[in-house]
Amino acid sequence: MVEQTTVLQQTEAQPKSPAGAASSSLRHESAHLHVAGDARYVDDVPLPQGAVHVALGLSSRAHARITHMGLDAVRAYPGVVCVLTAQDIPGHNQVSPVGAGDEPLLAEDTVFFCGQPLFAVVAQTRHAARHAAVLAQVEYEDLPAILNIEQARAQGSPLVCRSLEMTRGDAPHALAQAPHRLAGQLAVGGQEHFYLEGQAALAWPGEDGEIRICSSTQHPTETQHMVAHILGRPNNLVTVEVRRMGGGFGGKETQANIAACLAALAAERTGKPAKLRMDRDDDMLVTGKRHDFVIDYDVGFNAQGHVLGVDMQLAARCGWSADLSGPVTDRAMFHADNAYYYPDVRLRSIPLRTNTQSNTAFRGFGGPQGAAAAERIMEEIAFATGLDPLDVRLRNVYGTTDRNVTPYHMTVEDSIAGEIMTQLAADCDYRKRREQIRVFNRTSPHLRRGIALTPVKFGISFTATHFNQAGALVHVYTDGSVQVNHGGTEMGQGLHTKMVQIAMREFGLSKERVRITATTTGKVPNTSATAASSGADLNGMAVLAAVRTIKDRLVAFAADKWHVAPEQIRFTADGVVVGAEVIPFATLVNAAYMARISLSSTGFYKTPKISWDGATGRGRPFYYFAYGAACAEVLVDLLTGENRIERVDILHDAGQSLNPDIDIGQIEGGFVQGAGWLTMEELFWDTAGRLRTHAPSTYKIPACSDRPRIFNVKLLENAPNREETIFRSKAVGEPPFVHGLAVLHAISDALASLNDYRTCPGLNAPATPEQILRVAERLRQQGGETNAQVHA
Ligand code: MTE
Ligand code: MOS
Repeated sequence: MVEQTTVLQQTEAQPKSPAGAASSSLRHESAHLHVAGDARYVDDVPLPQGAVHVALGLSSRAHARITHMGLDAVRAYPGVVCVLTAQDIPGHNQVSPVGAGDEPLLAEDTVFFCGQPLFAVVAQTRHAARHAAVLAQVEYEDLPAILNIEQARAQGSPLVCRSLEMTRGDAPHALAQAPHRLAGQLAVGGQEHFYLEGQAALAWPGEDGEIRICSSTQHPTETQHMVAHILGRPNNLVTVEVRRMGGGFGGKETQANIAACLAALAAERTGKPAKLRMDRDDDMLVTGKRHDFVIDYDVGFNAQGHVLGVDMQLAARCGWSADLSGPVTDRAMFHADNAYYYPDVRLRSIPLRTNTQSNTAFRGFGGPQGAAAAERIMEEIAFATGLDPLDVRLRNVYGTTDRNVTPYHMTVEDSIAGEIMTQLAADCDYRKRREQIRVFNRTSPHLRRGIALTPVKFGISFTATHFNQAGALVHVYTDGSVQVNHGGTEMGQGLHTKMVQIAMREFGLSKERVRITATTTGKVPNTSATAASSGADLNGMAVLAAVRTIKDRLVAFAADKWHVAPEQIRFTADGVVVGAEVIPFATLVNAAYMARISLSSTGFYKTPKISWDGATGRGRPFYYFAYGAACAEVLVDLLTGENRIERVDILHDAGQSLNPDIDIGQIEGGFVQGAGWLTMEELFWDTAGRLRTHAPSTYKIPACSDRPRIFNVKLLENAPNREETIFRSKAVGEPPFVHGLAVLHAISDALASLNDYRTCPGLNAPATPEQILRVAERLRQQGGETNAQVHA
């Protein structure tokens, strides 16, 4: 059962908001289309006549020199129009999103991972293109390949980008002085995005070098730039449009450029509209995923469980190119404290270059991996001191007036993680249930229960300061209907709904009167990726600015026309109150039009207060933090290693929510995706560097039956953002992903029963059945509870 809280607080300026306006629940703007199959994705756009289809030819080696590329059979296949290689690129064969220059769109003389695109087949049908692609005769001369973190370290740790160090105080000294000290290692796996709609793009060549692209991208502006770069054209000839994505989760922040650039190249070479929709297997083989990490930690603490010093090294498998690995590994460090104060601390990232897919953005952007390390440290201290892990967590949580400076020297001004944890623990009866679980485990040989309660503190803003800007374009038409455009993209998260709600609330209009349109670089230029959970924060303020500009003009006009003071004019659900009269919005708008008042405006916003200097590791990279806590109870079967999530309670801080129903959906979805990452999703590469888990047959994502048996999600009440965000809301897209950690720790708690809770199980992620059985066996051997006893 899902409980929810609706926080609806009207401001003075908005005496009567229409139903569903911002700060109340309104169903997703496309829900009726989603459920009826009428929502158009790239692949649903009707193809113009003569359109061609593109398929990819992929490298079968992890690292090799190409000695011969035999494409005759590919070209000869019926229906093939042409085959494109790196030589066919008129501009620059380079799609590195960070300008690293290490990411050719199509391989040149060397391949750097198994699955790298070598060529693109253009054919009259998708079927022909795909069948022709596998006929290539490519000859290679193998080169030494580095496939994972362990191999990279053995080969002298080649870095894909610079490593970052953050220090505060003197960690080595604090560690040396600490009464207790322990060191350990945590491994956390990667994750495939598994968006339901795969990577796709459709490109139309226009006149005089123009090109228009429908792309499933989170970052239309970057896609525009990359296409322009590949084609050797200025940005103003390229228009990128996105109505919606069937999920992105970070996987379409940079990786969408591949499909868009190849569709554009095919359109440019053939003069015909061209579509590339990747097959699921190709999608998984070609595109990057979540970074897996190996984190070494050294922690000093006292008998009361207080952390005194932390030294951590965070090594990540980044894949063959830099992509976003710099900012991802940075964000892992920014969250290596999760919600805890480290008095003396030293953190270092080690972004390793490997011959695998180029790992990229994925919900949380490295943050969840960093937070996983913080939670392991709390767990280790709990076992070492014999304290309840919740008490260790509460003792180390950031303070409000002191013990509130992060490893990157930002002061945490509003630490509420402790309060949230305490409230959640009381609400879900954590302490009593923990005792009951211990009693249960004593008499249950094969089934063991576990419980854990973990917090999240997630920094909101792009750490690259300049990305924290947004634009909008709002039109009011003479019939009083409104069109809202902004730079953000819709991937299912409800961003467009929230933007509509803002215009509804400001203009006093019902949802039928406000239309959101596809995102396009032709309407709002120079946008940032819809990422870092900042879509609503940034674009919401830009929409608000545009709407307020138009309102100001209407107010000035009405004040003059009806001789009332501007303060006596208000936009309400019943119409525009002008002094003693209520005038329908359309009437006012039409009168303004007749008086030659502009009814269209852009809006712009940039986040205040933020700064970050990567060179010194200091600054205020985040405008604010979003908080929350989750309590998970699991049941583990010691015979099979299977586990089941019995109950989850989440209390989450969305500030004054823009849309409580949508935010609860984000929390539920984020949690399930996080739990999937930590318990069942496992990527496997063989010794030749071939990804063997490239379809749902071998890669397991959570199913409906894997959801918690009891699932209570609540929004924190009466918690408006302290900062002046859009209607005092907080970003909600990524932070709830971190709640999945409660499940990993609950499984660990269940396993700890095997040796009477004496040692930290050291459970790595993903906690698959195999991993659970391995740890169970180790604990039995360490702890004296033998198989014989268990089976007795
Ligand atoms: N929710 C859905 N349904 N689909 C998605 O692809 N992406 C997540 C999150 N929630 C995603 C989602 C990620 S990675 C981010 S950064 C945010 O949504 C982006 O949207 P926002 O900034 O509007 O919250
Ligand atoms: Mo989200 S990983 O920032 O797209």
